[in-house]
This record gives sequence, structure tokens and C-alpha cells, in this order.
Amino acid sequence: MKDIAPIIKEEHAKLSKQWAKFIEEYQKDVVKSGLVLEQFKWNLQKHFQMEELSIYELSESIKGNEVGTIFDLMADHGAILALLAEIEKKLNEEVKGKIQEFREALDKHEQFEDNNFYPLLDSYLNENQKASIIIKIKSKIIEKDNSKPNNIGL
Ligand SMILES: [Fe+2]
Ligand SMILES: [Fe+2]
Repeated sequence: MKDIAPIIKEEHAKLSKQWAKFIEEYQKDVVKSGLVLEQFKWNLQKHFQMEELSIYELSESIKGNEVGTIFDLMADHGAILALLAEIEKKLNEEVKGKIQEFREALDKHEQFEDNNFYPLLDSYLNENQKASIIIKIKSKIIEKDNSKPNNIGL
């Protein structure tokens, strides 16, 4: 039986690695860290798009039940990207507080997805529905991993 949750969890881990790279660079060279942050943002946007296109399109069919209720709680992608945009704009100023705020918001969101949303979705969908979503997710992951700029080794 194939589940969606572990695939998403793996993608979250990739994002964490890229974020760690940014933090490491930020402590050494703020200008260079801006490049790493740009790449991280690109990957995060692609991740959110993947979730929105592949999974959120289910929203009509899951509205009104338990999965539908927690689905509403997943609407914080926009707020997370706005926090990241603030960090990006003010990278040369003091953004340590913002960096922490962003990391906490993303952690909370990802933990909710990993521990609640996707496991519940897996238990709610039948095998056919899961298989078709997994195909969409995987094709988006392949598309992302093949098209990302590699010039700084991410
Ligand atoms: Fe998400
Ligand atoms: Fe996610």
C-alpha cells in the first residue's frame, strides 16, 4: 500500500537541508547567503505549488468531513512566503528575529502536514485516489529536481 505522507515528509527534509545551508552561509557571508535564500525560496514555492495543484484540487471532494476541516488549516502558504519575502528584502539589516519567526511558522506547518493532514488524507482516500495523487506529486518532484538551478550546489 502506497502512502502520500512519507513522500511529502521526504520533501520537507530536503527543504530543511536547504534552509540549513542558508543559515550556515548567512553567518559567514550575507550577500552570498542571499543567493542560497533565493534558491530555497524557489524550492519552497515549488513545494507549495505541488501541494496546491496535486492535493488541494481534492478539496471539493473532501469538503465537509474531517479531512476537509483540517484542509482549511493548510491555507498558510501565503503567510509563510510573505515572511520569507520580508527576510529577503532586509537581509542586510537585522533579520535574526524574522528568521526565527519564519522557521517556527514553517516547522509548525510541516509538522501539522506530516503528523495530521497527510496521514489522515492517506486513511481517507482509496487506493486509486492515492495512486493518482502520488503520480502527480512524483511528476512535480521530478520536474522540480530537474529544473532547479544548480550553480551553488543545492
Ligand atoms: Fe503545505
Ligand atoms: Fe508541505
